[in-house]
Amino acid sequence: MESFKKSCVYQIYPKSFRDSNGDGIGDLKGVMEKLDYLKTLGVDYLWLTPFFLSPQNDNGYDIQDYCSIDPLFGTMEDLDRLIAKAGELGMGLMFDMVFNHTSTSHEWFQKALNGDKKFQDYYFFKEGTPDNPPTNWQSKFGGSVWEYSEEVGKHYLHLFDKTQADLNWENPMVREEIKKVIRFWKEKGIKGFRFDVINLVSKPSAWEDDEEGDGRRFYTDGPRIHEYLREIVVDTGLDADDIITVGEMSSTTIDHCIRYTNPDEKQFKMCFNFHHLKVDYKDGDKWSIMPFDFEKLKKIFHTWQTSMDEENGWNAVFWCNHDQPRAVSRFGDDGMYRKRTAKMLATVIHGMRGTPYIYQGEEIGMTNANFTHISQYRDVESLHYFEILKEQGRKEEEIYRVLRERSRDNSRTPMQWEAEEQAGFTTGTPWIGVNENCEKINVRESLADPDSVFFYYQKLIQLRKHYSVISEGSYEPVPLKQKGIFAYQRSWKKEKLLVFANFTGKHQEIEGREVLDNWEILLSNDSAPKINGKKFVLDPFGAVMLYSCERA
Ligand code: NOJ
Repeated sequence: MESFKKSCVYQIYPKSFRDSNGDGIGDLKGVMEKLDYLKTLGVDYLWLTPFFLSPQNDNGYDIQDYCSIDPLFGTMEDLDRLIAKAGELGMGLMFDMVFNHTSTSHEWFQKALNGDKKFQDYYFFKEGTPDNPPTNWQSKFGGSVWEYSEEVGKHYLHLFDKTQADLNWENPMVREEIKKVIRFWKEKGIKGFRFDVINLVSKPSAWEDDEEGDGRRFYTDGPRIHEYLREIVVDTGLDADDIITVGEMSSTTIDHCIRYTNPDEKQFKMCFNFHHLKVDYKDGDKWSIMPFDFEKLKKIFHTWQTSMDEENGWNAVFWCNHDQPRAVSRFGDDGMYRKRTAKMLATVIHGMRGTPYIYQGEEIGMTNANFTHISQYRDVESLHYFEILKEQGRKEEEIYRVLRERSRDNSRTPMQWEAEEQAGFTTGTPWIGVNENCEKINVRESLADPDSVFFYYQKLIQLRKHYSVISEGSYEPVPLKQKGIFAYQRSWKKEKLLVFANFTGKHQEIEGREVLDNWEILLSNDSAPKINGKKFVLDPFGAVMLYSCERA
């Protein structure tokens, strides 16, 4: 396996990837069927979102048993076979560790409800009357973070859905339980671990109302977070060179992410942050839409790239995942210029300093779902917000517009394998609707077209392995006067890489780099721009990667 700096991770949402038994739900055998496809793409790790035993209120992020497989997805034998086969093909599996919370169906929580004090201390049960919760904090999925339990006569904390109770990491027994789970999977040969909302696990000692916000400032990157992460990582040997770890960091800061990922700290190899994916939130509100703010996007990327570089931190770089709308629909043109947009966005991410992540379907340029009725939505967050926005008095038509742009279901529609009905995902009825555009956008079509988005991704993955300037180089923004152009330079020893990406639907003339005529075009997403002295023209949504190496 390549070092994580040369690697690329592919994210699989098993429920929507490939259904092998016709029950409409993707499964582990389905993943197995598609390993050759993933090998052709050239990715190194397969991150599988949770397939552990779960009531599925949040599609598996509500875990009932960390060490068993939900029968919806298959059996432990299926998993063993998948680990072995992926390994033979040179791909490691990355598992999703959800340790901020468990499902309320977890044995620990059930024992807590039955009055077992030991297990009550695994969670946060706090005094309060049914109508008077301990604090005014708001859950990430809407409503209070507190739910009153009649059985215990107290409120318990849930930063997400009320069926996802937060674990009390202050309790050393909880941390030992977590280590046991990691060791269990590590012994099975798992080489990658993704930690769900892990920067939220250190809660404050005082519980107070938040007069300024929803409470997140009290528990995000909390007081003992670095100590906890180091303990978990060191005690389970996750700092070993052959293991890849990534922390999902919610509303975090650069300074914390430097600490999370600088090797001296012995925490994670890399982390996700989401600041670049909030540039279309009006006044910071996910449920108020506005066109994305390109200048802000550019600034965020430049700042994160340079600051992490300066302090030896490492980013996981990405546009898409199972919580985000499809990037082609969000940051470009998913109509006439869909393919070009998909390649342009890929160029931006895959040229950066960090480890790139591809979310299933991104490599064929899949688009948003375009659902028109609430009955088509499945996501707990979307269903909650449909009600919340109605209560706020917003018109139904407007709510649908917001959901069409923001719902997490946009990325959860089934993977489009074929042009046929149900997109070759299932022979049954899919648990969530297939995108109508599967006739045009599908894997079969992509593999038949040498110029497809798929082969462009394949090329980008190979370039990272081949050119140290991509995997190791430093990052520097390239200032340009043109609006809507994203540009940066990477440098490593005598090598240099320049990336230009046009986020607009217009031709744009780029001017300025004196040495442009000594540069070779490594890749471009459409007709290669003709460099004329110091100038060249980028097509609408065009992108180009230029390379130069000084001769000794
Ligand atoms: C982040 C996951 O990516 C998301 O899907 C989930 O709902 C929350 N964490 C809660 O586990």
